[in-house]
Amino acid sequence: MNRRFDKVNSQYRDDIMRVSIRQQLAHPMSEFLGTVMIVVVLWFGGTLVLGQYPVISGPTFIYYLVILYSIINPLKEFSRASYNIPKGLASMERVDKILKAEVEIQEPDQPVRLDTFEHQIEFRHVSFAYKDEKDKDGKTMLHWVLKDINLTIPKGKTVALVGQSGSGKSTLLDLIPRYYDVQEGEILIDGINVKDLGVHNLRQLIGNVNQEAILFNDSFRNNISFGSTATDSAIEDAARIANAHDFIMQSENGYGTNIGDRGGRLSGGQRQRVSIARAILKNPPILILDEATSALDTESERLVQDALYKLMKTRTTIAVAHRLSTIKNSDEICVMHEGEIVERGTHDELMAMDGYYRKLHDMQEI
Ligand SMILES: Nc1ncnc2c1ncn2[C@@H]1O[C@H](COP(=O)(O)OP(=O)(O)OP(=O)(O)O)[C@@H](O)[C@H]1O
Ligand SMILES: [Mg+2]
Repeated sequence: MNRRFDKVNSQYRDDIMRVSIRQQLAHPMSEFLGTVMIVVVLWFGGTLVLGQYPVISGPTFIYYLVILYSIINPLKEFSRASYNIPKGLASMERVDKILKAEVEIQEPDQPVRLDTFEHQIEFRHVSFAYKDEKDKDGKTMLHWVLKDINLTIPKGKTVALVGQSGSGKSTLLDLIPRYYDVQEGEILIDGINVKDLGVHNLRQLIGNVNQEAILFNDSFRNNISFGSTATDSAIEDAARIANAHDFIMQSENGYGTNIGDRGGRLSGGQRQRVSIARAILKNPPILILDEATSALDTESERLVQDALYKLMKTRTTIAVAHRLSTIKNSDEICVMHEGEIVERGTHDELMAMDGYYRKLHDMQEI
């Protein structure tokens, strides 16, 4: 790694050096060439004017010199532009890539409004693939990550997803707030296809505690209140429920403490509790929970679990859990395997079934 780092750095330094040397030389070089040209012109013109048989008169020559002088500077500018313009174009290419990126999630022409969530979320024969995988012949082929998912989450209930890494749990959650559009089947909220709802409207109904806490280089206060104009006391209440208040108060500036890029100055469990506090403050009717896999010690695990439990109690929740103890009390547990739901039921039913869930459970007991 050291060698690789050195190599990349020296390469970069050499390139930058070469560019700087050329840039620094360009100015004296063009001055020099300009002067040489004047000398040549004066000498040649002089012989024409002062020679034995003058070809042009003195005033004509001076007139000509004045014109020459006045075009020399613009000519130099041209040469400077010829290396500045490609430089600008190169940056433009990078900026353009972002500005022209297509938004794949299309806002419906006449969005249906949904202000409250009353009945259920429903997955009907949903299949999904992340797009654009090419096979050997360059044909687009779809690698199905979810296959024919049918699932109903009634209001006020908690549905949990478990299953091995890569089985499609996070993908399934991402489909509800429409981070991706499904290829087959439909997702309905209170009987309305999510594609018919305004994107903003849809996402307002949903609180999301992600597998990777999405935090910004800002204070605790702004990270928790992100996207809302909550009062300080409301923020504090949310942090208390999320078991985050104590460690926030212990930091140097309390709620004003900066948490670093992506919350880099916090531990994994603290990051999670900050994002739980954000979800509590938003107080959405639907909650999407993707538990982080990071190993927590028993104390912070208890704190995080306690916070999650308080959050889930009064809401419609769909949760991915790695620690089965978090979801023991769920109304329905779905076991996912390679994009399909292979077992479903309550904790007790699944234990009695003696299948995949039982195996997972017994492994965690050990
Ligand atoms: N943005 C993406 N582009 C392409 N493929 C993806 C993308 N995200 C996930 N996948 C693929 O989809 C499959 C399911 O991933 P997903 O993140 O849903 O798994 P998961 O069940 O949440 O796993 P974990 O328990 O490790 O979080 C994986 O095979 C993964 O490689
Ligand atoms: Mg995941």
